Amino acid sequence: MAVTEDNILLRVEHLTKSFKVGKNSSFKAVNDISFHIYKGETFGLVGQSGSGKSTTGKVIIGLNEPTAGTITFMGTTIDRSLPKQQHRALCSKIQMIFQDPYACLDPRMTVLDIIAEGILYNQPKMSRDQIKSKVYELLETVGLSREHANRYPHEFSGGQRQRIGIARALAVEPEFIIADEPISALDVSIQAQIVNLLKRLQREKNLTFLFIAHDLSMVKYISDRVAVMESGRIVELAKSDELYRNPIHPYTKSLLSAIPLPDPRTERNRRRIHYNAADYRNENEPLIWHLISDEHWVLLTQREIDALQPSNA
Ligand SMILES: Nc1ncnc2c1ncn2[C@@H]1O[C@H](COP(=O)(O)OP(=O)(O)OP(=O)(O)O)[C@@H](O)[C@H]1O
Ligand SMILES: [Mg+2]
Repeated sequence: MAVTEDNILLRVEHLTKSFKVGKNSSFKAVNDISFHIYKGETFGLVGQSGSGKSTTGKVIIGLNEPTAGTITFMGTTIDRSLPKQQHRALCSKIQMIFQDPYACLDPRMTVLDIIAEGILYNQPKMSRDQIKSKVYELLETVGLSREHANRYPHEFSGGQRQRIGIARALAVEPEFIIADEPISALDVSIQAQIVNLLKRLQREKNLTFLFIAHDLSMVKYISDRVAVMESGRIVELAKSDELYRNPIHPYTKSLLSAIPLPDPRTERNRRRIHYNAADYRNENEPLIWHLISDEHWVLLTQREIDALQPSNA
């Protein structure tokens, strides 16, 4: 796909988010990252715990203020200088679903009220009856039924609660959904159901996804492109199949080596590759974005680029 501003939904440029540590120092949870997400795409963001994935999502949706950099969504740069009404309208087009929906579903509210809150955000004048039928419709869209509307979050299983979280997000009529490890806490059998639900919703509602996960096992199937994050930086970005076939960064290789293989014979011979940044480079060497092939980027030092095989250089 040719990169034009028309088919880009989100553009993140040189985004940095620092947090204070103690009185006088700070550290960069997100360190100068740039990427764009096409309309209708599922963009995977993977990396180990603490690499800055959730912080990236939270800055995009406005839960955290960026320290530096810009976020352009639907052609408009999101910042505090936007008129309040426009800022609110733009941000409502981005919704987030979380690993533990229980933590963000108010336990004292019924499912009806939880989803109604989302509907009222855009349509505050809707009548109670109209809201009810919209809630029923949304429950059915996510594979629940209208009988669930008067129950409370604790009465549901983990998978059902995730469906409620998804219905709550859809109620606001978003264009873009940030799914922050939406399946990590679920049983393996339920994970596939939720992934299938998200894929169906994407087709039916023309949604765009940022799908955050620890590892590549599910992400490589559901994402069009994947960015690999390590210590606050994106270290490799490519189409999913290309990243899988031709990983360049040692950290990407280590993530891929952690995925169990379906064939027991090959699984027996699988070797984990362990990655420790200090084994590869000294901290002061500058990092350079290097283009491997069409839309396949990797962040390396000049020395590492020089050492690449000629077919990759
Ligand atoms: N509000 C905050 N104040 C201080 N430090 C924070 C804050 N939020 C996140 N951090 C730190 O920033 C780093 C990145 O955190 P983040 O939650 O983005 O990681 P993550 O990649 O989502 O990890 P996980 O896979 O465990 O969810 C971590 O070291 C974390 O402790
Ligand atoms: Mg996280």
